[in-house]
Amino acid sequence: MNSELLVCDAKNFRVDYEINPYMDTTVQPDPAAAVAEHEAIVAAHLAAGRRVELLPSASECPDMVFTANAAVVRGNRAVLGSPPPERKAEVPYFQDWLVGRGYDVVEAPYPFSGQGDALACGDLLLAGFGQRTDPRMHAVLARELDYEVVPLQTVGPRWYDLDLAVGVIDTRTIAYCPDALDAPSRRRLQGLGLDLIEVSVDEAARFALNLVSDGTTVTMTKGVARLAGELRTRGLRVIELETTQLAKGGGGVRCTALTLDNPPSRRQP
Ligand code: ARG
Repeated sequence: MNSELLVCDAKNFRVDYEINPYMDTTVQPDPAAAVAEHEAIVAAHLAAGRRVELLPSASECPDMVFTANAAVVRGNRAVLGSPPPERKAEVPYFQDWLVGRGYDVVEAPYPFSGQGDALACGDLLLAGFGQRTDPRMHAVLARELDYEVVPLQTVGPRWYDLDLAVGVIDTRTIAYCPDALDAPSRRRLQGLGLDLIEVSVDEAARFALNLVSDGTTVTMTKGVARLAGELRTRGLRVIELETTQLAKGGGGVRCTALTLDNPPSRRQP
């Protein structure tokens, strides 16, 4: 799983506005360090045997490095993100790229954070709402991508996207921060019969769960020892990467990569 990823370089990454509680326009990323950090993440994907597609970032789009918000893709279909106004200029770049690659591209009729709020786990789609995604998107995602949608509401802007509160390790294993989800969502997740790894608020707020896993290698942020240790205990290879510059935009490893090869539904349409 997760072996083909779309990324955008960090050359235009800046904090021009504040649309999540981690962003502060007076604390800018160091441009050279940000590019190096991003290149190291890409190198780690390649070393893990993943394929990486690169779409050059646009100068007027300072958050384009957070490619996960572009869309959610399954098989040959993509549902585009519909981000806050500050990020709207990104959408046509992603739309053109996906259309150019032959994807069947659907526009989101409601606010939608793309893969940031739509984590595939086999035939399930763990779908965030309440922050940047309108719950009416869930029916759209179920219909367009044939997923069984599991709605999960995070408890506040600190978890503005679900990929900060939940990390998919493989189709049977999920890491999550129980305190980041409301009680009905927690129960829904616990009722799926999956193996759940609990992560503290402290580690989750340092983007521990914002990871890319292919079920063999987990690429994740450096300095979250408990989760990294737990994953190693389970036999996974864990690659820890610097994300101090990306953190100034409110993101980590997962935010920078849109998965392009989520397996299509086996059900006949
Ligand atoms: N600064 C970006 C924003 O607020 C960060 C997005 C991170 N993406 C994610 N999938 N969590 O939109």
